[in-house]
Amino acid sequence: MGTVQSFASTALLSILVDSLTIVGMVGVMLYLNFDFALVAVGVTPFLLMFVARFKKAVKNATHEVRTRQSDIVSVLEQGLESVRSVKAFGRQDMEEGRLDTASMKSVEAALKARRVKSLLSPIVAVTVSLCVAFVLWRGAGLILSDAMTVGALTVFLSYLNKFFKPVQDLAKMTNVIAQAAVGMERIQSILDADTIIPQKPDARDPGKLKGEIVFEHVAFSYDPEQPVLRDINLTIKPGQRIGVCGPTGGGKSTVLSLIPRFYDPTVGRVLIDGADATEYQLDPLRSQIGFVLQDTVLFAGTIRDNIAYGRLEATPDEIVEAAKMANAHDFILQMPHGYDSLVGERGLTLSGGQRQRLGIARAIVRNSPILILDEPTAALDTESEKLVMEALERLMAGRTVITIAHRLSTIRDADKIVVLKGGIVAEEGTHDELIIRNEIYAELYRIQAGATPAPEVSAETQP
Ligand SMILES: Nc1ncnc2c1ncn2[C@@H]1O[C@H](COP(=O)(O)OP(=O)(O)O)[C@@H](O)[C@H]1O
Ligand SMILES: [Mg+2]
Repeated sequence: MGTVQSFASTALLSILVDSLTIVGMVGVMLYLNFDFALVAVGVTPFLLMFVARFKKAVKNATHEVRTRQSDIVSVLEQGLESVRSVKAFGRQDMEEGRLDTASMKSVEAALKARRVKSLLSPIVAVTVSLCVAFVLWRGAGLILSDAMTVGALTVFLSYLNKFFKPVQDLAKMTNVIAQAAVGMERIQSILDADTIIPQKPDARDPGKLKGEIVFEHVAFSYDPEQPVLRDINLTIKPGQRIGVCGPTGGGKSTVLSLIPRFYDPTVGRVLIDGADATEYQLDPLRSQIGFVLQDTVLFAGTIRDNIAYGRLEATPDEIVEAAKMANAHDFILQMPHGYDSLVGERGLTLSGGQRQRLGIARAIVRNSPILILDEPTAALDTESEKLVMEALERLMAGRTVITIAHRLSTIRDADKIVVLKGGIVAEEGTHDELIIRNEIYAELYRIQAGATPAPEVSAETQP
């Protein structure tokens, strides 16, 4: 962006001025001495042609430099982000090595670009000098045979010298043009990436949703070679609680990402309150869907800001009320500045359970009719899980809730449990129904109960 900006603010004007200067000077030189002027003008197209061919090489080299530079940034960012893991595994040297490699590649690319660029000036300078030498030689001959005055030749020579200055400048400017073009391409590719999910021109405001969700023969894949969802059929009534389970990578998160239209199905429809989700305007639709994910990301700012992130116009009272319901009020008050305490960039100073409870408070102020919980307790220990589950219980009241859970005890009481496997709904029913059915869910449940024997289960198995 910097390159494009500086091109627009400085280079554009000089290009215009240089072009006008060249046109004016050619006029004056033609007037002074027609033959000589033709020499200068005749050389110019070749010069510009050479420069144009050159531009491509410079552009490629510049592109390489930019790519290598972003590589350095990603290596650096990754290393800093995972600094705890890096230290824990004692991999500082390895990370440094990675940075070294990326830096060397960037230096090499930069040197190569320099080499290409540095060829330009000498070649132009030699051409100009040859031109001047020719005029000097022919001019001297003309003066000796009295066909031209010394004054006329002097004036012409000084003009010729000045003439190549804007041509040279213009030639140099091609670097800047090439860089700006590369920058523009990279910006464009990011802008284009943002239009994957289009909003229909006649999309309407969904109003206040009741929260009925129907999947009709939905298929979806990120990569056409590998279908993730094959044929999903599912009906969720307003206010129902649905539990979703199944093997990792089975497409659970993918199914739920179709509801807020992070992606659109490749086949079939997702109906929300009876209408295709694509009929609705994106923002009003998403504003009625709340999320609590496996890990709540906290933004740099105060606790209050972070809760209000769910709904920016939430009042201070609503925020405190939400925090109380989310079992977060007490630990917030214990912090040095209460609700105005700053949390770090990634909330490093808070525990996982505390972050989840802030995430729940955020979802409570959002007050959306549809709620998506994607393994909200997966990363917690049993103690904080209890506090979080309590908070979730209050959050879920009166909403359509879809919970993805790895730990099946979390979704045991759901109105309906859905088992996703192989891109289809392999089983659905209540806990008891699925246990009686005695297939995938029952098997999963037995394995988990066996791994951490819950008291009631051991009582059942050892009557
Ligand atoms: N953004 C993505 N781009 C490409 N593939 C993805 C993406 N997200 C998930 N997948 C792939 O889709 C499949 C289903 O993933 P996911 O829905 O996250 O499963 P689950 O939540 O059940 O563990 C996996 O094979 C995963 O690798
Ligand atoms: Mg998932």
